[in-house]
Amino acid sequence: MRPYNSMNSITLHCPAKINLFLEVGPRRRDGYHSLNTILASLRLSDRLLLKRRLRGPAGAIDFRLQFAKDYPATWAKLLRRGIDQNLAMRAYRLLSGQYPQIRSVPLTLTLVKKIPIQAGLGGGSSDAAGVLVGVNQLLNLHIPWRNLLRMARVLGSDVPFFLHCMRDKKIPCFWASGRGEHLKRLAAPKIRHVLLVHPGFGMATSRAYQLFDQDGAAARLTSSGILPTLKQELVADCQQWRWLGTNSFESVLMRQYALLRRLKSRLRREGALAVGVSGSGSCLYAMAKRARECRGWVRKMKQAGLSRRLRYYVTAIE
Ligand code: C5P
Repeated sequence: MRPYNSMNSITLHCPAKINLFLEVGPRRRDGYHSLNTILASLRLSDRLLLKRRLRGPAGAIDFRLQFAKDYPATWAKLLRRGIDQNLAMRAYRLLSGQYPQIRSVPLTLTLVKKIPIQAGLGGGSSDAAGVLVGVNQLLNLHIPWRNLLRMARVLGSDVPFFLHCMRDKKIPCFWASGRGEHLKRLAAPKIRHVLLVHPGFGMATSRAYQLFDQDGAAARLTSSGILPTLKQELVADCQQWRWLGTNSFESVLMRQYALLRRLKSRLRREGALAVGVSGSGSCLYAMAKRARECRGWVRKMKQAGLSRRLRYYVTAIE
């Protein structure tokens, strides 16, 4: 196939996210739950490198997984084991199924993982969005936005959010409803420094929803009307915004994991402006006005010797 353009490679940063607020509603007939949430993209990101190979059999994608320094071996092993089902690969298969001309270009796709897995940070979904955007750009396919969005929805509830983030890098915050795919832009909160604390264990999204259903907590969406005021309040004074950090999964996760309870109260005592579970867990986030506050909390928590399995990431909404 004749090359579409002169570009031979492209590198994308696929950001992590946190949910500044998450309310889960009832389970729908299709098995998904209705929800209202605020998604914010983070500086912490995976790196995706797409490269056109000069030679190679048609239809051959060479998918390589690499890991950032300090990436835990157990997570790397899990990702290696599930490489065929990796969302980045699924995105490539979906895309090349719909645009078969892609298959005639030998590509190498290298994914460098930095984002923790099963942590509620959306790493896999972000990588999938990266593949849609990256292959489209590299091969100059001019895929209409609505088709990209349709494929993103098929790949997962959070993928449309990441697709929006990659299209407009200046907008890090969105209100999401439906199963997560209906998005409205929000201005980013002024307080944007974030400490992520990974508790050392993961939580599969489907498992968290299962626990939520079993818990029998009232699954009612009470926040659907807050969007108009939220737009001003979150930005003006996010400390005063009473929904910040609330998450429907929290009570069930906190009941199950004493460590999460301890971490939350510890971060509160340190003076975090908001502490919450991200998505369906297992990561906690704490917000601060300055990055150095986050670094100070890490130092103190390490000294306190809470658990050697904890991992800390100082990052920011951007
Ligand atoms: O959409 P995604 O593939 O990320 O969802 C993973 C699982 O999480 C789904 O199979 C479903 O069990 C659960 N889920 C849900 N309601 C949502 C999003 C996800 O029940 N809104």
